[in-house]
Amino acid sequence: MNSLCYHFAKQLSDKLSGFTPEIAMILGSGLGSITDNINNKVVIQYSQIDQFPESTVSGHSGQFIAGTLQGKKVLCMQGRIHLYEGHHPQIINQIIKAFKLIGVQKLIVTNAAGSLNPNIPAGSIMLITDHINLSFTNPLIGPNNDDLGPRFPDMSKAYNLKLRETAILVAKELGITLHEGVYLMVSGPTFETAAEVKSFGLLGGDAVGMSTVPEVISAVHSGIDVLGFSVITNMGTGLQQKPQSHEETLSMANQSTGNLTSLIQHIFERI
Ligand code: HPA
Repeated sequence: MNSLCYHFAKQLSDKLSGFTPEIAMILGSGLGSITDNINNKVVIQYSQIDQFPESTVSGHSGQFIAGTLQGKKVLCMQGRIHLYEGHHPQIINQIIKAFKLIGVQKLIVTNAAGSLNPNIPAGSIMLITDHINLSFTNPLIGPNNDDLGPRFPDMSKAYNLKLRETAILVAKELGITLHEGVYLMVSGPTFETAAEVKSFGLLGGDAVGMSTVPEVISAVHSGIDVLGFSVITNMGTGLQQKPQSHEETLSMANQSTGNLTSLIQHIFERI
């Protein structure tokens, strides 16, 4: 598994024919349309990359989109790899390591999440300031390749402060309300019980979701600067009356994607 990153990097490089992305973006459920404004697009299906995992969730297309956004070279994953699909956590590490090998220096992650904080309502955008890994696994478990990152990476500055400050400034200029908070990851695929939501709030989480943390851990390990946003698609179980559903996640994510797209596009001008 540890050498898969070189295999992925070689294939991506070949398919990108010399194009070297400096920023990677991973797009969450229902947030794939952020790629609409990318110019000179090159689309690579995950199925065109040997041994690349499949993205099996509705709202996730399963393709890379490379191109330029505000003049910056970007590679997007439109379709995320989730642990609840049965993928090994290390595969996520191998994908992020491949990004690093082809020149990526910054990673922007987006996700759909449920709110654990009554002050962060559905429809909000939350800038991720930190995370709590309650997935009970880690993408770095296994032999470490010291050439690609340290055995015991520091996580004290996981979400890059300079990038966060830029996001806050840009949001202010655009008049977009940007909440800030801690993302708590569970493995899923079940939505939380009301008791879990209550306890996750007490633990210090502001939003709960089933993704993002493995990518962020791997990026920090690789020396890639991370910026992360959650689109709050629902209040956590017990904080709202109606039951949770993936359909609601997709529909709310689609509604909030406009503000996030505009925010990210303007951030691209500054980073
Ligand atoms: N819980 C977990 N993941 C989610 C949620 C939620 O309430 N909403 C969107 N993704």
